[in-house]
Formats: sequence, structure tokens, C-alpha cells
Amino acid sequence: MKITVLPGDGIGPEVTREAMDVLASVAAAFGLEIETEEHFIGGVAIKEKGSPLPDETREACLSSDAVFLGAVGSPDFDDLPPEKRPEIGLLGLRKALGGFANLRPSKAVNALIDSSPLRREIFAGTDLLIVRELLGGLYFGTPRGFEDGRTGGYNTMRYSVEEVERVARVAFESARGRRKKVTSVDKANVLETSQIWRETVTRIAADYPDVELEHLFVDACAMHLVTAPTQFDVILTENLFGDILSDEAAVLTGSLGMLASATIGSDIGLYEPVHGSAPQIAGKNIANPLGGIASAAMLLRYSAKNEAAAAAIELAIEKVLDEGYRTADLAREGYPKFVSTAEMGRLVREQIAANLKVRTTGQSI
Ligand code: IPM
Ligand code: MN
Repeated sequence: MKITVLPGDGIGPEVTREAMDVLASVAAAFGLEIETEEHFIGGVAIKEKGSPLPDETREACLSSDAVFLGAVGSPDFDDLPPEKRPEIGLLGLRKALGGFANLRPSKAVNALIDSSPLRREIFAGTDLLIVRELLGGLYFGTPRGFEDGRTGGYNTMRYSVEEVERVARVAFESARGRRKKVTSVDKANVLETSQIWRETVTRIAADYPDVELEHLFVDACAMHLVTAPTQFDVILTENLFGDILSDEAAVLTGSLGMLASATIGSDIGLYEPVHGSAPQIAGKNIANPLGGIASAAMLLRYSAKNEAAAAAIELAIEKVLDEGYRTADLAREGYPKFVSTAEMGRLVREQIAANLKVRTTGQSI
């Protein structure tokens, strides 16, 4: 497999390093051949190459089997209009790759339940998957722009039936491998796009009689996520709603740093942690690399189609947390098992090696 690696901005490079080291060690253990090549994206690409998505980056991505991205975004560009900001590099890349379904799983990990902002009895047992439409809605709709003299601004939310259909199918298929329930989230009491969304999802649901479908308005969904998150299995929603709800779902687990994502639907998968570039903690070796590492697991699951290798990483993450190791987002300095970004990566690699050894020799080390 050829993987293009885009460390990007802020904490992107440090979490990407750990994720790629874990990936390399799992690949070696499972006999997978992986070749990686690094390129610039985002703010660092603007600085080095004058563009947030340089042509060479785009071309490398388009000729690879999968793309791994750390994070984009930097306060250095805060005053610039959207089309000149680092984020446009990521949006351009998503569009170029063509993956329209962004999968963001969020789950109560036993060891971290007490780090959740929710009470244990509310959060325990939560296991949900957000399927976020990634190439439509306000992010890409035209016309968009500023009124003359910057007296106002406008964006367009637009969805075709076809765009809704294809992402709805991903949600129903995903639900089939889980608890067989889809909650479709919209704002059909106000928005035309949401009415198209709801009609289309309802029609597609007929092809999946084994999957239960429910509809929820986005404001109610935001509330249910913090009052009764265990009711959700698959949440299907449009781009901006999915962006917002996925940060909310992510932080329920104890830290935004824990969550992974995969973008599928085209031949080239895109894998990125849900957290952003977190410039205030960049370069300090304190960021949580587990979201990045879990994104590498998703790469193995969806692009390499190697469930065992993906599961090996996920199991190791849980074990390391069970043993009490925590990065700064989950524990303060002085916590008995407080570890750095690099130490967390090493612990996961050691855990994977130990687990594989148990599996092949039956012996614990
Ligand atoms: C995300 C991020 C991006 C988004 C930004 C960086 C463009 O917040 O992946 O959730 O809004 O999609
Ligand atoms: Mn986001």
C-alpha cells in the first residue's frame, strides 16, 4: 500500500509520528507492505510552498491508496479570508479524493468513564458512530461570499437527492454491522435541504428493513447526546451538523484527543483524528496521540481491509488506558502514570507486540 502522510499544522506532526510508527510496527507484524511519503498541507504548506494544498501534495494523494492527515489550522492565518486559510487545503483535498462519508466513532472506554464530563450512569455503555456527509452542504455550496464593502456575508446550503442517497447507504450498511439503528439528524422543521434529506433517507431505509430508522432534529440531538447518549447507534447527518455534533460526541469520551475518523466512498480513503491542530500545546510533546493512532487502525480496517490488524491497535489502546497511562488531556502533571505523546506511542507499540506474542506463543511476557 502506498500511503501519503500529511502531518500538517500544530500538534499534527507529533501525533502523526506516533500513528505512523504504530502503523509500521503493526504492518510488519501482519506482513503488510506499506510505503509512506510525507507532504505539506495547511499552514505549513502556505509557508513552504505558497499554497495550502500544493499541486505536488494533491498529486501524491491522488496516486496513493490512502491518505493520513494530522491536523490543519494555525492562528498565524486568523485574519485571512476563508479561501486563503489553511483549512481550505483540507477541504480541497477532501473534494479531490471524493470520499463523501466521514465516519466518527465515539465510545465509552471503561478506563476513561470517569474522565467524561457526563456522570458515569449516563455515559457508561455509549457506543455510537457519526456518519457525517463530507462534500456538500454549507462547506461547498455556492454562491458564497461577501457583500460589497463587507456589509454582509452569505453561504448556500444545498443537497441533491443523490448526495443524500449515497451517504445514507453508508449509514445503513454500517448499522448492519452494529446494533441496527440509524438516527437521521436534520432541521426539517425549518430547512428545505433537510426536507429533501428526510424524504430521501426514509426512502432508502426501505432497502434496509432490518435496520430501524428514527429522525431527530439537530437541536434535540445535541441535547440527547448529553442526556441519553446510549440511545444512539449510527447518527447520520449533513456536513455542518456532523462537524458540530462530532466534537460534542468526541469530548464525551473524556478528551477530544481520543477520537478517530475515516472518510470513505471513493477509492482513496482519508484518515484523520477528529481533534484539530491545538496550536497552544503544539511542539510540547504533551498532545494525546491516541486519536491519530486509532485513525491508523481505521486505515487498516477500511483501506487495507485488515480487520485483525485494526483490532490489534484498538485492543492495545484500551489496554494501555486500562493500565492507567494518561496524556495531559486526561491527567494532570503528577498523576502516577502521566506520559508524553512519544511515551504513549511507545506504550501502544509495546502493548501490540506483547499481545501478538501472547497470541502466537500462548505466553504472556
Ligand atoms: C473537522 C475540522 C474541519 C472541518 C476543519 C479543520 C476544516 O473541524 O474535521 O471536523 O470543519 O471539517
Ligand atoms: Mn470539526
